[in-house]
Amino acid sequence: MVTSERAEEYGQIGRHGVEEFVCDNVIVLRNALEEETRRRTIEVLKMRGVDHLTGEFPFTIVPHSGIVVITLENTALNAPSADERIHSGLTELDEMCNGGMFRDSINLVSGATGTGKTLLVSEFTRGGASRGERSLIFSFEESRSQLFRNAAGWGMDFEDLEAKGFIRVEAAYPEIRSLEDHLVQIKRVVEEYQPHRIAIDSLSALERIAPERSYREFLIGLTAYIKHCQVAALLTSSARNLLGATSVTDAHISTLTDMIMLLRYVEIGGAVRRGFMVLKLRGSTHDKQIHEFVIDSNGMRIGAPFRDVTGILAGSPQRVAVLEEEYDDMRYMFNGD
Ligand SMILES: Nc1ncnc2c1ncn2[C@@H]1O[C@H](COP(=O)(O)OP(=O)(O)O)[C@@H](O)[C@H]1O
Ligand SMILES: [Mg+2]
Repeated sequence: MVTSERAEEYGQIGRHGVEEFVCDNVIVLRNALEEETRRRTIEVLKMRGVDHLTGEFPFTIVPHSGIVVITLENTALNAPSADERIHSGLTELDEMCNGGMFRDSINLVSGATGTGKTLLVSEFTRGGASRGERSLIFSFEESRSQLFRNAAGWGMDFEDLEAKGFIRVEAAYPEIRSLEDHLVQIKRVVEEYQPHRIAIDSLSALERIAPERSYREFLIGLTAYIKHCQVAALLTSSARNLLGATSVTDAHISTLTDMIMLLRYVEIGGAVRRGFMVLKLRGSTHDKQIHEFVIDSNGMRIGAPFRDVTGILAGSPQRVAVLEEEYDDMRYMFNGD
């Protein structure tokens, strides 16, 4: 093994231009500056006589482990899929999903700030605990005590659930480490705690600390790992605008998830109400109506669909008169898909 320094990250391989020809195998390590953050990558440039992955892969250096490369080869899209459904935490949501979330699914909830994303995470963990399942919450926006206080306001005793071993909270500022290190840390805690459910609140907090490419790699690594573990995951993402039309969520995360739920503020007649909808659910039919929900001291309650309002998704809700028969027709059309 011979090491050689190079002057530029993407320049020639060695100083003299001959090193790569005389060696059988060449591995390139980089530590490039990208949008004010360093990104370490490893690339197998050539490896005589063996098949290898090409291109750069992010890596991080972990105490007691050394170099940890983030590759996907052991987590390729070959994990078996279970048909088993799990309790989402809300009976109404299970009904909207035609029986609940899938056991090994990645579920995304997107909504503006204050719409109830952390609440849904709390319901998800409470629902898990009610079935004897352990949940691991990674909180990047709120501390453990804030999360517990919020939960108490929703009638959930997280202290008790924690003492019984049903929940574990890992709260940290996103900025304390790089995304690669976050991924390594997430894997480490998952391996240690062996949860049935994982929640990450929120992806948006992680997104802000890294350039787009690193974030995309992180998401792919994270979702592949979650699939590999065959646990149910609930990820949250903040929509940028409070009201008005917002893009559902980033294109990459949407395609990596099995289910997308939207939480929306709905302004009608001078009051702000809340709407909940399941936008997509892979592998199952689902309710396509926008339901009203309320938050109270028992948590989230999903009620009936908005019947006389249109334009909620477009961000300009308007009241419309709906005749009873038309409404029934519509309902038939939506449900009979
Ligand atoms: N005990 C409570 N009773 C009624 N509403 C509450 C209660 N606690 C919080 N809320 C509502 O829940 C919202 C916060 O939900 P949260 O899940 O933290 O939002 P976010 O989407 O930002 O994570 C608050 O804006 C508030 O309106
Ligand atoms: Mg929140």
